[in-house]
Amino acid sequence: MSENPATPQTFQVGHPGHSELHLQASPIEGASQHHWKLTAIGPLELLELVAQWRQKVESCRDLRQVPLPQGHSPAELLLKELLLKARGEWKLPYTEEELCHCRAVATQKVLEAIAQGAHTPEKVSRWTSASTSCGSCRKDVTSLLDYYLNKPSPHAVSE
Ligand code: FES
Repeated sequence: MSENPATPQTFQVGHPGHSELHLQASPIEGASQHHWKLTAIGPLELLELVAQWRQKVESCRDLRQVPLPQGHSPAELLLKELLLKARGEWKLPYTEEELCHCRAVATQKVLEAIAQGAHTPEKVSRWTSASTSCGSCRKDVTSLLDYYLNKPSPHAVSE
């Protein structure tokens, strides 16, 4: 959260102009809680998901009480990422800028492939070229896949 408690803060995930989710947090005066406003720009699937989740998110004062989407569609993965980021609980197991040094594949490219449906190490390799040479980065691809697709409820995650 921002240092000035009166300033609204916006969390954003996705691809600007193509598929975006925003969550604005406006502090409630005199309380440590926030009003939440969930908005989206993008394909119908994303807009429909936001319509389903809007009341659940916006009626909740404490985001940690909102369950995470459990599906693996691009829209559900995006919403899960947004909620975890807003909670301060999005902690990827691999954070270097480049993931595959043999093929010069950026970590962001691998994350985008996972978000768009590359849900096995083989698919990530086909879509991005990561892990197609020495293979030493495969464990990092696998750990990102595991985190993105199977991250447990944040209540079970220790800091
Ligand atoms: S570091 Fe990715 S294949 Fe070698």
